[in-house]
Amino acid sequence: MGARKIIIDTDPGQDDAVAILLALASPEAIDLLGITVVAGNVPLALTSINARKVCELANRPDVQVFDGCDRPMAHSLVTAEHVHGKTGLNGPDLPSPSMQVQETHAVDYIIHTLRREPPNSVTLCPLGPLTNIATALQKAPDIADRIQEIVLMGGAYFEVGNITPAAEFNIYVDPEAAQIVFQCGAPLTVMPLDVTHKALVTKPRNDAFRALGTPVGVAVAEMTDFFERFDREKYGSDGAPLHDPCVTAYLIRPELFSGRKINVEIETQSDLTRGMTVADWWRVTDRPANALFMGDLDADGFFALLADRLGRL
Ligand code: BDR
Ligand code: CA
Repeated sequence: MGARKIIIDTDPGQDDAVAILLALASPEAIDLLGITVVAGNVPLALTSINARKVCELANRPDVQVFDGCDRPMAHSLVTAEHVHGKTGLNGPDLPSPSMQVQETHAVDYIIHTLRREPPNSVTLCPLGPLTNIATALQKAPDIADRIQEIVLMGGAYFEVGNITPAAEFNIYVDPEAAQIVFQCGAPLTVMPLDVTHKALVTKPRNDAFRALGTPVGVAVAEMTDFFERFDREKYGSDGAPLHDPCVTAYLIRPELFSGRKINVEIETQSDLTRGMTVADWWRVTDRPANALFMGDLDADGFFALLADRLGRL
């Protein structure tokens, strides 16, 4: 099988950055057509700069980056500087990018690409709030049937929430968008907190990145060092979860992950539980399955893959 064509939709974010680097380091498995940027961890102006900084860190200024939506569909933007720092990419001192963004809006790029490429040959990889993807689906409903798969980071079942007691950040920021995506009918694979909270950057794993001795290895160690401080205090765990790289790792080594095909609905009405992914893990309803919802991961295999691939850049 050849490399899988993907669009990464992202709000970098240190963990988004590692997910992008992993994709760029794996050309035999992943053909990265473009990066679409959305507001999330920090406002759009910063996520756009950060996406380009990451491409330049990987010596890939040729990657096309498209700016997308600067706010959620129905609510004002909630950001996460308390996790990612003021720039969204605190940790390494990366130079301002000289790459420019493309002129096309991210939503139009997603639509054009899905219409241009053969049906079911492009996978969407959302790593942030789902605003760009849902807006594209709303503007061009025909694209839903042309998507090969959507593999996203978002939601939770057993781990419940990280931005509120009931909701995970990406879904909470734009639940209306999430509802559109979860109901669009395209094959959907979800990396919830249940998986990503097992992808912990322990000290030896962080040391392995730094030991690569390359600009990428050192920058990744500095990124994970940064959000480690916050997460260690919050979760009391031995390292911070590396959420978004679970998406790109899945495209390379799907056997590292296991889950269930179940029904997942998004709560959009309740003030208390807004953005909750109501996942029918125990299959107690007869609602049809709409997602492969992951529950477990081979963490050692995941970090071995990451260190190996990042070492190529
Ligand atoms: C998600 O929220 C962001 O802070 C991370 O980049 C990740 O995509 C985890 O809840
Ligand atoms: Ca993200």
